[in-house]
This record gives sequence, C-alpha cells and structure tokens, in this order.
Amino acid sequence: MRGRFITVEGGEGVGKSTNIMLLQTLLAERGIPSRLTREPGGTVLGESLRGLLLQPDGVPPSDLSELLLMFAARAQHLAEVIEPSLARGDWVICDRFTDATFAYQGGGRAMDVSVIAQLESLVQGDLRPDATVLLDAPAEVGMARARGRGELDRFEREDVAFFERVRAAYLARAEAEPERFHVVDAARPLADVQQQVAQIAEHLLERASHG
Ligand code: TMP
Repeated sequence: MRGRFITVEGGEGVGKSTNIMLLQTLLAERGIPSRLTREPGGTVLGESLRGLLLQPDGVPPSDLSELLLMFAARAQHLAEVIEPSLARGDWVICDRFTDATFAYQGGGRAMDVSVIAQLESLVQGDLRPDATVLLDAPAEVGMARARGRGELDRFEREDVAFFERVRAAYLARAEAEPERFHVVDAARPLADVQQQVAQIAEHLLERASHG
C-alpha cells in the first residue's frame, strides 16, 4: 500500500522541529516508520538551492527566481525522495511543502497565486499532501523565538507585516481545506501543543487503518 504524505507548516519559530520529532516518534511507536525530510532541501541539489535561498548576504534573488528555485528544489525532491518513498509504502513527513510557497511567495511576497498554482500542477501533477499540520502563532511570537535562536536567515530578516501576510495566507488555506489541515495553536505552552499533535497522530493512524 502507498505511504501517507504528511506535511508540517507554519511561520518562523513556531516549533516545527520539536513537533515533527514528536510526530515521528508517535508513529514509530505504532509500527509506522517514516521518512523525515524538508523543503527547500531533502536532496543534494535541494540542499544546495536551500543554501542559496536562505543566505542573507549579497544581491537577493528576484521574487520570480525565488519562486522557481523553490519549485526546482521540489521537483528534485519529489523525483528522488518523496515519490519513491510513498511508492514503497513508507510514510513521508515533510518539514514544509507547497503550502509554504503559497504562504511565503503568495502571501509574504504578494506574488500571483495562479502562477504558483500552475507551477504546482506542472511539478506535482495530482500529488498533494494527505494531511498537513499547521502550527499557528502570531507573527510577533514566532519572530521573537526565531531571534532567540541566533543568526537570522534571509527570510527571518523580513518584517512583521511580511509574517502577518504569511500567517493569513496559511490560515486561509487551512480554512479552504479543513479536511486536510490540522491547525494547532502553537502559542500555547509546549505540553499543550504536544497534546494536540498527539491527537492528530491518533487521527492519522485511525484514518490509515481504514485504508
Ligand atoms: P525553515 O527550514 O526554517 O523552515 O526555513 C525555510 C525557509 O524557506 C522559511 O523561511 C520558509 C521559506 N520557504 C519559502 O519561502 N517557500 C517555500 O516554498 C518553502 C518550502 C520554504
């Protein structure tokens, strides 16, 4: 049976890494090993593109270059990692995917969403995540946490208005697809957030057991 494709999304500093680890552990405890990966990245080519996209120095890419590089990394990731893993029956947990493009390039950079949708179809065909966990927190909360982690990358240097647009775009997508999205209030204490993630893991396992 084909594996499930789970993505985890959110703005900066919402605790993606911690909660992704938890999700993976909970699935493993129930006999479901998963392949953990990330975007942009997940392949040698994708990680090189990630370096170029995130580095804060020098002339920044144009909005269109940024968008195309995100999808170039994604095309390689799909061909090399995501599609083969799902076909083998493995579950894939991906730290960000195309919802991030709609949120950051569509919302943050205010790019034409229909262009993003065209690239999505070109690169992914019909492939969409089976489930998406959205860790949601006010932009200020996430930015303060990200600043506390040290050196900021090119995206983390954007202003609060940018991250408010990112957040609004994520929430609009979640509202449009309530079946796929699981929205977690990531501003709450970690124990509460982890409890919500555990409930989502239960739900995913339950759904998978019904085919
Ligand atoms: P992260 O690993 O900290 O999430 O960093 C990845 C950055 O790349 C993050 O700031 C969001 C950004 N990004 C986009 O702008 N568009 C995309 O499609 C993806 C996958 C990430």
